[in-house]
Amino acid sequence: MSALSEIEVIIREDKDALAIAAAARFVVAAEEATINRGSFRIALAGGSTPRTLYELLAGDEWRERVAWNKTHVFWGDERHVPPDHADSNYRMAQEALLARVPVPSENIHRIKAEQTDAPGVASEYEETLRESFQLEAAELPCFDLVLLGMGADGHTASLFPNTDALQASENRLAVAVWVEQFAQHRITLTLQVLSNARCVMFLVAGEDKAETLRTVLDETQDRRLPAGLVRPTAGKLVWLVDKAAASLLQQN
Ligand code: 6PG
Repeated sequence: MSALSEIEVIIREDKDALAIAAAARFVVAAEEATINRGSFRIALAGGSTPRTLYELLAGDEWRERVAWNKTHVFWGDERHVPPDHADSNYRMAQEALLARVPVPSENIHRIKAEQTDAPGVASEYEETLRESFQLEAAELPCFDLVLLGMGADGHTASLFPNTDALQASENRLAVAVWVEQFAQHRITLTLQVLSNARCVMFLVAGEDKAETLRTVLDETQDRRLPAGLVRPTAGKLVWLVDKAAASLLQQN
């Protein structure tokens, strides 16, 4: 588990500067993965913060710097809605990035959340992961890069505080969770999968996240919020935050 000292916290002026810093690390991760392993396997974050990054990566300045033909795209979580729904994380990534870069369609592994049985959607996504990563029985997928956001309540992906998704059994790769505040099921990668990545990069922006970010990065906190529980066992952990979200962090 990464100690606080191994956690990289990078503060940038605003969301645009944050996206540029994230794009630079995205490109480095892509290059390292394709050179050393022949493919770049990522789990995209949902929500609104990553959209600026996705649009930047699809733009003229950055698009050519990623081997999209060797990239496999997954999601960290998905709302239990069809892919054309306004709340769909797939739809957001498709519009902002995937429709504008040459990722082969067979390399886009969306969570098929249009199916009514949410636990069945999670099981199907687990099979997709096992097949794509060619996993042995108890093996976890090792993403080259997992992008995550953080809610003001400290959730990440769809791992919300005080939900049983945080206690998913060891062999689960993805689970369906009922999220009361949204009166909606969500499908999410489990904590153990997120923490098994070579690199986890959080993107957090906005004043409303400042108190939670201070709590999550405070190692003395015994009750850890879900975002604080994502601790790569062997990989890198990078927090890319804007000044507003970092406003309560002690500047050392
Ligand atoms: C989702 C995300 C979720 C998101 C946070 C932050 O499906 O919504 O997985 O974990 O990253 O809620 O969302 P914002 O970036 O919109 O603040």
